[in-house]
Amino acid sequence: MSEAGEMNDVVTMDKIVSLCRRRGFVFPSSEIYGGLGSSYDYGHYGVLAKNNVKARWLEAMTQERDDIVALDSTIILHPRVWEASGHVQSFSDPLVDCRNCKKRFRADDLEHCECGKKPSKHPGEGPDCDLTEPRQFNLMFETTIGPVQESGSKVFLRPETAQGIFINFKNVLQIARRKPPFGIAQIGKSFRNEITPGNFLFRTREFEQMEMEFFVPPDESEQWYRYWLEQRMDWYHRYGLRDSHLRLRQHSEDELSHYSSGTADVEYLFPIGWSELEGIANRGDYDLSRHTEFSGTKLEYVGQDGERYVPHVIEPSAGADRSLLAFLADAYDEEEVAGRERTVLRFHPQIAPVKAAVLPLIGKNEDMVSKARSLYEELRRRFVVEFDDSGAIGRRYRRQDEIGTPWAATIDDQTLEDDTVTIRDRDSLAQIRIDISKVGTYIAEALVAPWKTPKSE
Ligand code: GLY
Repeated sequence: MSEAGEMNDVVTMDKIVSLCRRRGFVFPSSEIYGGLGSSYDYGHYGVLAKNNVKARWLEAMTQERDDIVALDSTIILHPRVWEASGHVQSFSDPLVDCRNCKKRFRADDLEHCECGKKPSKHPGEGPDCDLTEPRQFNLMFETTIGPVQESGSKVFLRPETAQGIFINFKNVLQIARRKPPFGIAQIGKSFRNEITPGNFLFRTREFEQMEMEFFVPPDESEQWYRYWLEQRMDWYHRYGLRDSHLRLRQHSEDELSHYSSGTADVEYLFPIGWSELEGIANRGDYDLSRHTEFSGTKLEYVGQDGERYVPHVIEPSAGADRSLLAFLADAYDEEEVAGRERTVLRFHPQIAPVKAAVLPLIGKNEDMVSKARSLYEELRRRFVVEFDDSGAIGRRYRRQDEIGTPWAATIDDQTLEDDTVTIRDRDSLAQIRIDISKVGTYIAEALVAPWKTPKSE
């Protein structure tokens, strides 16, 4: 396997982009107006699959444990929040402008940038390149609140959901009656005016985060940091990402953010190479202390015995869009079946947008259609299922394979005689026959059964 992730895997970023578009997972945004760079709209299956990723995360954080509560804070917060957090001061990239081609580049990444003039060279290497000195460019999007622009009306679209959590620490401590160690989890949109977005869903200016801030007694922070590294790796494995494509990478001293005493990235081997899915940071008491200082409200834990401390924070911060991209890349497969090529998304069943398809073998046979319809009506009360009676059965299976539907229930001649249906497995293509009344139970049990991808490591 090469570092660039070429190994024997058939997946490429182009194939994912093309499948996502062909099957309606993701569309380029504002397309009829010529598109808006690096912006994407999620179509039906994209919404369902991303919702599944977020639901599995929230379940693991809140439903499966007693020590984390959920939060949904606003996107626009008091502007002082971003002074306290350090974002106004230091959430910036060093940029250079070319006075000649008028393009702007990241000063610390010129070797990956292309000059605006042909023949293409790195900025600064062409005969006409005329670069400015590097200037800091803040990544926060600004807007104004209220109808007039006046002093104090400038606000920011949040660049991370984390700060909405820190400023609610006291509410949760008091009203939700928590004591450290406890966590607050939030999923929501964040915005960063990246100069170099790209690689499809991997880096976009508007994106969704799944962040959890875990507040702990200071002397337990190292142990909880290690605990969350393990928990988060387990979560990705649990939903099927291959071991060979996942790794933890500790940040070196010079990579650490201003607030962090330790950070590790969960990385996935995308077709573009190893890239970050999630950062897990030991933020110490930086955030609560800064908000105490800037707001004048003491953010600390005071125990009944008078014990008093500012909790330290362990933060697992994941990207929902890039997680979905990793699930797509890990699921994508091609194989030849009976002399024909098939493309299949081998999603974990709990990530798959549609759980089962209900298909009458012959779409024009009224008895089959009516039986299939009534099975579909029964199943849709419990699962996301699809009914499809149009076209040849082979084409309908291919379509379901491409959206990653794990099972298809097919109603055929025998169903009309004995009320049994075939259940086709997306991955093995094996077909079994079961009683039509058992299909719901079959799907419910298969959904919670341990699952391992059939793709090779
Ligand atoms: N809260 C950390 C991050 O957004 O990267």
